[in-house]
Amino acid sequence: MKNRSWGGRFKGVQSKEFQKFSASIDFDSKLALYDIAQNIAYAGALAKAGLLTSSELDRLERALRGIEKEIRDGKFKYREEDEDIHMNIERRLKEKTGRLGGKIHTGRSRNDQVATDTRMYVKENTKEIIRLLKNLRKAFVRQAEKHIDGFMPAYTHLQVAQPVRIAQWFMAYHEMFARDADRFADVLKRADVLPLGSGALAGNNYGIDRKFLARQLGFKAVSQNSIDAVSDRDFALDFCHAVAVMFVHVSRLAEELVIFSSREFSSVILPEEFCTGSSIMPQKRNPDLPELLRGKAGRVNGNLVNLLTLLKGLPLAYNRDMQEDKPPLFDSCEQALASIPLVTVMVKKLKFNTPLLEKRIADGFITAVDLADYLVLKGTPFREAHHIVGSVVRECEERGIRFTDLSAEDLKKHSKLFSEDIFSFVDPKKSPDRKKGIGSTSRKAIEAQILRAKKELK
Ligand code: ARG
Repeated sequence: MKNRSWGGRFKGVQSKEFQKFSASIDFDSKLALYDIAQNIAYAGALAKAGLLTSSELDRLERALRGIEKEIRDGKFKYREEDEDIHMNIERRLKEKTGRLGGKIHTGRSRNDQVATDTRMYVKENTKEIIRLLKNLRKAFVRQAEKHIDGFMPAYTHLQVAQPVRIAQWFMAYHEMFARDADRFADVLKRADVLPLGSGALAGNNYGIDRKFLARQLGFKAVSQNSIDAVSDRDFALDFCHAVAVMFVHVSRLAEELVIFSSREFSSVILPEEFCTGSSIMPQKRNPDLPELLRGKAGRVNGNLVNLLTLLKGLPLAYNRDMQEDKPPLFDSCEQALASIPLVTVMVKKLKFNTPLLEKRIADGFITAVDLADYLVLKGTPFREAHHIVGSVVRECEERGIRFTDLSAEDLKKHSKLFSEDIFSFVDPKKSPDRKKGIGSTSRKAIEAQILRAKKELK
């Protein structure tokens, strides 16, 4: 082990099995380009502290740019013996610059190094996710505009509840993903703090200019406590949490689309490009994309629990357990990046079966609340009105008819307050526009929602 970068105090050789077990290069190579940027900035800080001459800085920087090119061209040789990305790059730097390469790690530890790379990863990907969410939100708004005059039954307990404009359904999802974007903006805020310069856990002896490093690497602030800086993975938790919540929303949408696109509902037609047939049943058109998205929600939930469990009870400061933070973090990120664009295209291409939905809102006593409201407006206490309409529903069920089939005489038997004008209250297409308040399903209130969203999305 004498040949390892930390091998000075060791006599024997490391077990081959353990070397394989211990290596993280097969996943943390994803941090390669952040590590290069970090090394270049750090070399600059070493020169600023008088630890490198300007020609040494020059040589290191050129060598690091060379390594960057090897990485980008897929020519860099990652070696398991070098354990992780940090030592792989340092090894290559030494191959290129000889003893000089041995200066790069002055005052630095892999503990502040890996924390810095991981934050850079989270920051960049969070920005990308916010950008992707913006496209998704626009897709919902566009669909809402298109469906402003379409109607559908909305459900509670998956039982027909009240008629709404289809636009209201689209805008409900817009709201969820707007909050998600906000959550990611919050992730970004807390990830934007630089740990570099904290050393192993106590800081460094060399007067490394941490604010200079923060400027070079595009961090808003530097961490204020070296022990915390190398121990903290809250930013990864925040990120995985934001992804998990976002997938809760994705999975609710997915579930609704699975239901709505079933033959029994037939209210939504999924774009064919995201469905598959069955190898045995020729009639099938399976909603694979929504199903897979619903499945991913379980996976990213697991990643969050994985990370929470990993960090729980760890003593300060760095512990090797923390190497295991990367697979769940990377996986959540990759699932998000892969899913949002597909959700966006699916939403853009969704087709509602509006004629069928219009027929459907005529069923199921969907305007029962409106009937009760009619009586309330004429002075009946709501509880009594609720009871009266309940008996109207019972009569209709017994006679096998709908509200619209009742005559005014029929209704008057239930309450003498019913008169001819009741029929506009019974009409399911008139119901939404009576809901006038902010956020409700009237045309006007939805138009206000859309306007507000569009302003935000500019
Ligand atoms: N590969 C390690 C990780 O991801 C880097 C930090 C190693 N630090 C240490 N003290 N062994 O956590």
